[in-house]
Amino acid sequence: MPNIVVVGTQWGDEGKGKVVDMLAPHVNVVARFAGGNNAGHTVVVGREKYVLHSIPSGILHPGCRCVIGCGVVIDPGSLIEEMEALVRRGVQLDGNLFISKNAHLIMPYHPALDLASEAKLGKRRIGTTGRGVGPAYVDKAARVGIRMADLLNERLFREKLELNVSLKNRLLREIYDAETFSVEEILDKYLRYAGWLAPYITDTALLLSRWMEAGYSVMFEGAQATMLDIDHGTYPYITSSSATAGGAATGTGVPPTKIHGVVGVSKAYTTRVGAGPFPTEMTGAIAEMIRARGHEYGATTGRPRRCGWFDAVVGRYATRINGLDTVALTKLDVLDQCETLKVCVAYRHQGETLTEFPEDETVVAGAEPVYEEIEGWLAPTAGAKNEADLPAKARRYLERLEELIGAPFCLISTGAQRDETILREDSPLMRWFPSVRSSLM
Ligand code: IMP
Repeated sequence: MPNIVVVGTQWGDEGKGKVVDMLAPHVNVVARFAGGNNAGHTVVVGREKYVLHSIPSGILHPGCRCVIGCGVVIDPGSLIEEMEALVRRGVQLDGNLFISKNAHLIMPYHPALDLASEAKLGKRRIGTTGRGVGPAYVDKAARVGIRMADLLNERLFREKLELNVSLKNRLLREIYDAETFSVEEILDKYLRYAGWLAPYITDTALLLSRWMEAGYSVMFEGAQATMLDIDHGTYPYITSSSATAGGAATGTGVPPTKIHGVVGVSKAYTTRVGAGPFPTEMTGAIAEMIRARGHEYGATTGRPRRCGWFDAVVGRYATRINGLDTVALTKLDVLDQCETLKVCVAYRHQGETLTEFPEDETVVAGAEPVYEEIEGWLAPTAGAKNEADLPAKARRYLERLEELIGAPFCLISTGAQRDETILREDSPLMRWFPSVRSSLM
């Protein structure tokens, strides 16, 4: 049974939720491996819209087991709210949700430090989601973090909390001039959370290993995306976790040799939330049109997303860094009213033409896009279910993107609903999941 990773190839919000939701009925387990409640995965099922932040989208499929891996950071209050909302809508969590003992906790001082640090950074601010994700990973790397397993051991939890609160209060008071925290208040709240979450906390790496031995198929659900990855993204304007395919192994404890393939998810154009370089960013009326047609507002913060043309340099980079076997292209229909489309095929920097994504942040910041212009199709593709129904010019656009990024498309999404999808018969996705077409019914 195939174990497949799904990752974003751009700066997030590519529509991974829809792809994971389509594949979930064809796997036994969905595992999140990175990020925290900074993510917002939107899934539309019939008339119901679900926005999930920490729980894998597979939870909406009865019988699909969902794992929150050790690479994820968890805000227990926000997780419990999400769990309660799902239970109210009839979703069964018991026996379906498993949380890693080693996943780190987002503590109340983390969002406070996130916001305080952003305020101090001034024009170098990252534009974070303010959820405390970065500071939680700081503590993980600094080896003072508190993990899910600690929640189950009151004495140890108190000890770690006391150390952290004394350090963080000094930082908040003396460096950031911000409010401080009390151990007792946090302890009280977190011990209540512990009571709630205890039945779900377990050794998920061991479970995954046993399940895979028994022949279960696992999908690794990425959060954020390649260009937000801590090592491979547009540092420092990134998130603090390993959002690329390699993170699936470290963020769950599943060895890389047990992973069989990687699907990238890409929009037919590009968006970015928060600060940082964005070579193909659009301005003016075209940006407004794409934002409105694509509903480009953050699922977590509601912030308007920055919009840009398709960047094939980024696409090619994502193919290389993640080893993409195939790509799911989303939101083609958003481009239906564009007379001319631009595709960035290279960057120009100080007289040089760059066809590979540059590692040097100053080069990225100064990169000018080199565009190829492609005639728009000016006809509706929204809701298209067959490739043959697409206008010839839309098909040409798709062919050119595939050629430039060096990975074949397995599906083209033309709307938010499950059935607004074109599936390619001869793709790796069909080989892994021969019955995936049934998800479109
Ligand atoms: P953080 O992850 O909250 O620390 O934010 C760091 C950067 O990642 C900011 O630019 C955020 O806008 C961006 N970011 C974090 N999560 C997401 C996401 O789910 N979609 C898109 N951008 C995100």
